[in-house]
Amino acid sequence: MEKKELIEKINILRKEKNAIILAHYYQESDIQDIADFVGDSLALAQWAAKTTADIIVLCGVHFMAETAKILSPEKRVFIPDAMASCSLAESCPADEFEKFTKAHHNHTVISYVNTTAAVKAVTDIVVTSTNAKQIVDSLPENEKIIFGPDKNLGDYINKITGRNMLLWEGACHVHEQFSLEKILELKKQHPNALLLAHPECRKYILEIADHVGSTSSIIKFGRESNSKQFIVATESGILHQMQKENPEKEFIPAPPEDSTCACNDCFYMKMNTLEKLYLCLKNEHPEIFVDEEVRIKAVKPIERMLELSFP
Ligand code: 13P
Ligand code: SF4
Repeated sequence: MEKKELIEKINILRKEKNAIILAHYYQESDIQDIADFVGDSLALAQWAAKTTADIIVLCGVHFMAETAKILSPEKRVFIPDAMASCSLAESCPADEFEKFTKAHHNHTVISYVNTTAAVKAVTDIVVTSTNAKQIVDSLPENEKIIFGPDKNLGDYINKITGRNMLLWEGACHVHEQFSLEKILELKKQHPNALLLAHPECRKYILEIADHVGSTSSIIKFGRESNSKQFIVATESGILHQMQKENPEKEFIPAPPEDSTCACNDCFYMKMNTLEKLYLCLKNEHPEIFVDEEVRIKAVKPIERMLELSFP
């Protein structure tokens, strides 16, 4: 089907079914453009919690759709491609993470939102990269903390908060790919360009970055900065919003180690397509379900996050 026709059909279906389309900044441009709301993982959770729509189509990865379902169990939640997983969430199997938390039972357990519902169910507070510092700072200074699963984000939060959280050894396959050498070379070619990096990047990239932040924070920085050129070290989908908002500025994607692969594309995020979004709305499939016992446990640390997240 032609793109124009797909868009028309999606528009009819979402109206008929009182559906809201939420999209992450890493989605392909067409999906970002048709979404009712585009945001980072915190904003998507906040929207899912407050929407009055009957149906949520979450164009992102599985944990994002699952978080929406956990927060809004009375709504039907769909994802265009049910296989859209997350390498970071997969690096943290719930049974092993639970063993880790039990071995350190006097610790508060903080989990990044990039986790399965089962991991959230054994967590005290969920965080995203937008609010992780704020939430860690809100805990008493002597509180012992476990942070999982992203070791790069955990290490960065330890550094900027002066904490010594115990870290789970997980990582994201996209953010671990950026090449220091190639970024330094790019900086030489564009001496005025600022480096913007997501905290899931490796430490040596974060150390040379001019700004470290979540996807929404990177977009905000690009909008508010007086600079005209930026090297962006996060998933390439974000460039669409940045370029759209700032047509006069140049946003250069940071290169991955392996130049033969599109490693700064999240393979999982890009599994969703406009056609799959249309089919998902039409067929009301694939649907997200969360075991009620797990949901009841998982919703608490997410709600705690939402309470502790102030603008
Ligand atoms: P944000 O919370 O910054 O949107 O990041 C989500 C994510 O999956 C990063 O890889
Ligand atoms: Fe997960 Fe990495 Fe993709 Fe983000 S970019 S969804 S952390 S695999």
